[in-house]
Amino acid sequence: MIDIENVRKDFPMLNGKMMQGHRLVFLDNASTTFKPYCVINEIRRYYTDITSNSHRGDYDLCFNMDQEVLSCRKIVANFVNCRPDEVVFSSGTTMSINLVAWGLGMKYLNPGDEIVISEAEHASNSLPWFSIAKLKGAVVKFVPLDDDGRITVTNLKKVMSEKTKIVALAHVGNVLGYVLDLKTICNLVHSYHAYFVVDGAQSVPHMKVDFNDTDIDFLSFSGHKMCGPTGIGVLIGKYSILDSIDPFLNGGGNNAKFNMCGDIEYLQPPMKFEAGTIDLAGILGLSKAIQYLQNIGIDNIEKREKQLRQYAIKKLEKLDNVIIYNKNAESGIITFNVKGVFAQDEATLLNSKGIAVRSGEHCAKMLNDFLKTPATCRASLYFYTSEDEIDIFVDALAQGGDFLDAYFNE
Ligand code: ALA
Repeated sequence: MIDIENVRKDFPMLNGKMMQGHRLVFLDNASTTFKPYCVINEIRRYYTDITSNSHRGDYDLCFNMDQEVLSCRKIVANFVNCRPDEVVFSSGTTMSINLVAWGLGMKYLNPGDEIVISEAEHASNSLPWFSIAKLKGAVVKFVPLDDDGRITVTNLKKVMSEKTKIVALAHVGNVLGYVLDLKTICNLVHSYHAYFVVDGAQSVPHMKVDFNDTDIDFLSFSGHKMCGPTGIGVLIGKYSILDSIDPFLNGGGNNAKFNMCGDIEYLQPPMKFEAGTIDLAGILGLSKAIQYLQNIGIDNIEKREKQLRQYAIKKLEKLDNVIIYNKNAESGIITFNVKGVFAQDEATLLNSKGIAVRSGEHCAKMLNDFLKTPATCRASLYFYTSEDEIDIFVDALAQGGDFLDAYFNE
């Protein structure tokens, strides 16, 4: 069990912060998360005590930094169960997926080949595939969503064929919040000899994701959505595939040699994909965040979020002015609208009461037709969310009404 009161003391943003003259209630954790002191202090340690580059100097500071980066790679590898040399540091999920799309696409896609995604994907797991498909003459196909908006094996089978080379899906959708059965889907994808690329931005921070056990080919996630710093992310890739593809980012630190004819000899993965000085403070901060989550226990985190979700849904269901679009999702993402109120107006009204939710299309702009609305509000929970924050949120929704009316009535 998580000692929520003590856990909340670890986060400066959860203690005494105000918004619009009210206590801050932060329910936008799918967008980004707060950072505990241990992460903040680790970033400070890099800049105050151990600043240097890595892999670029023959002096102690630099040598020590190399050791630190290696030990961070091991921490990440242990967290998702893969080899340390399968851990590529990137700037975030977006860069990770772009890296895979380019690498797999340039090497393995031919005209007429097919890439399968869904209309529920975030821009980061759509646009890179559109770009590479255009470049290589491949076709992007969409797995139909079921009536609830889920991706099912039955529906995926409908779009798979011998032309399918890549399937790229979010483990947890950032709007509907459904959790994909990775193992079963992976078996299906591999039975067609296609690669399975998983966007783990909304899952890795919240539940155990086992890279080896699920047998997926690529997994991406971002540090800032899991109590870590912004600007750092990870791509996990099967070593043999990483070894076979080329990087889309080239520069210092990713090559063994090059010459005036333009011949390049790359370093082995993961270095091959880490051109330029990587975000060292970010890597250290991310590792601390992972250790922090491990200390709480990733299973405890998943359990707590499920309880919080149930608590919130039970209360929200009592409000007849609220439409919930994903009542049965298994994650902490709750997407809703207040009847007759435009989503951005509702979010602005909540803001006026100190409550932070996201509104709009949430970067998943292909989902509007399915949702039959141009915009929604999204409340997203994390393990540190408290029940009384949910109470404040639900009470504010209960007051409902039009944005302008609500302002005038205050
Ligand atoms: N991907 C983040 C979200 O869904 C920004 O809000």
